[in-house]
Amino acid sequence: MADDSGGKICKGRLMSTERVLFVDHTGQIGGAELILLDVVEGRSRSSAFLFEAGPLHAALAERKLNPIISKWGRGLSQFRRDSSWLAAIPLMARFAAIVTEIARAARSHDVVYANSQKAFVLASLAGLLVRRPLIWHLHDIISPDHFGLVQRQTQVLLANAGATRVIVPSQAAATAFIEAGGRSDLVEIVPNGLALLPEPRTPAELRRSLDLPTRPLVGVFSRLARWKGQHVLLEALAALPDVGCIVVGGALFGEQAYAAELKQMVLARGLADRVHFLGHRNDVPKLMMAVDIVVHPSIDPEPFGRTLVEAMLAGVPVVATNAGAAPDILEGGKAGTLVPPNDATALASAIAGLLARPATLQNQLEYAFARAQAQYSVTRMLDTIELVIRQVQTGAAA
Ligand code: UDP
Ligand code: GLC
Repeated sequence: MADDSGGKICKGRLMSTERVLFVDHTGQIGGAELILLDVVEGRSRSSAFLFEAGPLHAALAERKLNPIISKWGRGLSQFRRDSSWLAAIPLMARFAAIVTEIARAARSHDVVYANSQKAFVLASLAGLLVRRPLIWHLHDIISPDHFGLVQRQTQVLLANAGATRVIVPSQAAATAFIEAGGRSDLVEIVPNGLALLPEPRTPAELRRSLDLPTRPLVGVFSRLARWKGQHVLLEALAALPDVGCIVVGGALFGEQAYAAELKQMVLARGLADRVHFLGHRNDVPKLMMAVDIVVHPSIDPEPFGRTLVEAMLAGVPVVATNAGAAPDILEGGKAGTLVPPNDATALASAIAGLLARPATLQNQLEYAFARAQAQYSVTRMLDTIELVIRQVQTGAAA
């Protein structure tokens, strides 16, 4: 079905017919890529350029996007965001080859949409060869906690010169971009949107079906990475002898050493019978609904934190660190509990407090659920992004 401005209606949403070249550096599916999978839905005239193959490649192909895999990008997603630019020097020839590949692909598209920091850097350089409106969906907080000075400077320099718009998921990410020198007129805050399927089973039934212990149980649902702070939760658990924990998530982006460190820590602290590593899972909502508390212990500011909203929608109390977007999402503590980052004692006492008074949390859980539905809707996110794509395309055509 077509609308009167040249778009089409897909699943009840207005969808432009622009040919968008989506670019992502990874073939893995982290939170940013889960957002991308929602954004590409219904855009069968578009393509996805990935630096490497992986589960994301298959998921994009399922959504009928034309997938393009770089010949040169394999393994580059393991190049860490906090690596120095010196470490990038031996990789320069490969980066240059990818820039050429992106430029070639951009020729047959109207808009380029970079979904990660590395994708944006190379896509903006490709813009020197083939000029197209360039959207950067910036899922990161460009602050010293996350990026070195040269990386921050390079990113804002390229954004100020080459990005047509910069989409960020939170005020915290917008502020960091602007404080790093990014142009505020480029920024569009589009909060991530999430939805969960209803689950008829009770938490007790879910626990049985998932083979989880019956003791008080907390869960952490993030990929394994030091800045996500799983080690702080393990430290807190050492002070909570009756509490079990599921650690859900894999070392998606080369953090295998951290994963090994966590397992070692569990052994060293005598937590092996209480802490269960479940690896990367595709049934996070069910696992969330089965635990008593969701913990989000990031030690660095979280750009958004999909798992916070997932916990709110799952109707489970959430304890998160008070940095980045978390205080905003949890409305300063009205929709969840906030603790200082990297403070195992405060975390342990927040968990103990919540486990001691589950009945008194009902109002907060209802409030959090309503807030998540009202503020973080998938439709609103997709409609706003659609508008941005149209605006940059119309601006380019004018
Ligand atoms: N997730 C998942 N399986 C796992 C761990 C996490 O599907 O084993 C999902 C989680 O439900 C959330 C996303 O991955 O939707 C992580 O997004 P978030 O914004 O919380 O953090 P990111 O990893 O993107 O920094
Ligand atoms: C990134 C961020 C996370 C955010 C996600 C989706 O991976 O680390 O906070 O929720 O992207 O925007």
